[in-house]
Amino acid sequence: MMDRQEQIEILLDHYENPRHRHALDPHDVQMPGGNPGCGDVITIYLNVSEEGTTIADVSFEGEGCTISQAGASILLELIHDEGWTVEDVVNLDYNVMMDILGTDIVKTRPKCATLALGTLKAAIKKYHRDRMKEEAGLLDDLEEVNEQYGIVTGDEAGKQS
Ligand code: FES
Repeated sequence: MMDRQEQIEILLDHYENPRHRHALDPHDVQMPGGNPGCGDVITIYLNVSEEGTTIADVSFEGEGCTISQAGASILLELIHDEGWTVEDVVNLDYNVMMDILGTDIVKTRPKCATLALGTLKAAIKKYHRDRMKEEAGLLDDLEEVNEQYGIVTGDEAGKQS
């Protein structure tokens, strides 16, 4: 178990030497996330692997308080070093994120501590939405094609003409 002082030093080190802090181009998703209480914003850049399950690359840019910026750097370092999947991020609980940073130190600043995670989750959601739209686009002319084959779907199915 790390003591409080060690945990503070890790936070300060990540704040002063942020990991993965740069834009990512090209990217699948660019997602800004803010804390309206203070005006701090971080932007997450995300690339997902071809098959949609692993995080190929993730980075951030931002200005803000120590905890929000160090939190982003620590989270992204974990994801890179441990090769997290998209599902790992989706399933990461906000309380666990606070634990990673040291609940003791960040408990009065939950918005700062979870800003990066919440923004990354939003980026993943957008990735899924974009992909679904794209896949739906491939089916744009489905009704037309089905009609040619005499296939009827939905409420009209099973009715005899
Ligand atoms: Fe703005 Fe922490 S004070 S995110």
